[in-house]
Amino acid sequence: MSFKDLPIMQDKKKGVLLFYPYVSKKTPINIKKKLSGRWLGQGPMVDKFENDFKKKFARKYSVIATGSGTDSLHLAYILAGLKKGDEVITTIFTCTATNIPMLYMDLKIKFADIERDTMNISIDSVKKLITRKTKAIVCVHYGGLPCNMDALQKICKQKRIILIEDAAHALGAKYRKKPIGSISDFSTFSFQAIKHFTTGDGGMLTIKDKQLEDKAKRIRWFGIDRKKKQQGIWKNDVHEIGYKYQMTDLSATMGCDALRDFNKIYKHRKKIYNTYLQELSPNSRVRCIHDYDKKKEHGAWLFTIAVNNKDFVQKKLREHSIETNQVHFRNDRYSIFKKFVKGKKFPNMDYLENKYLVLPLHHKVTVQTAKYISKLINKYAK
Ligand SMILES: Cc1ncc(COP(=O)(O)O)c(C=O)c1O
Repeated sequence: MSFKDLPIMQDKKKGVLLFYPYVSKKTPINIKKKLSGRWLGQGPMVDKFENDFKKKFARKYSVIATGSGTDSLHLAYILAGLKKGDEVITTIFTCTATNIPMLYMDLKIKFADIERDTMNISIDSVKKLITRKTKAIVCVHYGGLPCNMDALQKICKQKRIILIEDAAHALGAKYRKKPIGSISDFSTFSFQAIKHFTTGDGGMLTIKDKQLEDKAKRIRWFGIDRKKKQQGIWKNDVHEIGYKYQMTDLSATMGCDALRDFNKIYKHRKKIYNTYLQELSPNSRVRCIHDYDKKKEHGAWLFTIAVNNKDFVQKKLREHSIETNQVHFRNDRYSIFKKFVKGKKFPNMDYLENKYLVLPLHHKVTVQTAKYISKLINKYAK
């Protein structure tokens, strides 16, 4: 059987793509309406998207829609009060977006190693990095798998450290039945093209401390209180350095439409995720990056395997028109982070570096396709 025989392929010429953007069927009509209305930039749809998101993922937390996941992270670091020279512990394995805002803020980055089974931040490694100067820990729920939040919360509570979750992969994920986004001091999400759904580009920040909400909204918009300005009661002064981190109404329209479809999107992704897990986990030559811990509900954004002959498996899959990739890379390979990693060791990252591979997982991948891909992996993994 080749990919052409499979009933639903997303791209007949290119085969099975690794990612495919999700946009609701209703969006073209709603965007068309929006284009002839008053609000294109930040307007009432942004408020609606925030409210809808809050009900689903943030419970009592404040929610702030932004222009990207990166914006949300930068905003979180500012709101956390991080200052030049503060030490922040973060993971070595993530999208550079997690750590780049720290460079803008002159923070001292302390990279932690990952766990071999999950590729999430290693708690043992975090513990070794804590000093009296540690102000924050940033964890990333890699692929959508929640980190060990009990352990991270315990450390942060004991040492009075701020906990920030980069949840760009983890929409829909839960920890102890609580949605990711309603647990730590700050959590950030991304609606960039290849995430669970897209708003073109966009992000969300959830905040535990309600008192920070107004400040977050001001900093999102140059330091100006937009509400007061629109009501004509704003005292014309800016006393906080803000920037342009806002979401537009066009993006929020896409976001509201996609949120309505979210349960369906998530259910499908879980089905494909579980198919890979079922087909690949019995094979001792394939390590599925997964955790069977019942406290954790996976967000099913990425399905990642680790195999000793990664390049060969990837080549064989490519020959069968199946796209795979490593997606994220260890951050110490990038020159911008070099000064923070001199002489540092990351044995688990070293171990996995040339082994891990991300498989196609999105709304156009069928169970049959996932089984076919698994069969090829089981055949070629050594
Ligand atoms: C872990 C992680 N954090 C942050 C981001 C940045 O999000 P955005 O592209 O929306 O800025 C991404 C990916 O895009 C990511 O994978």
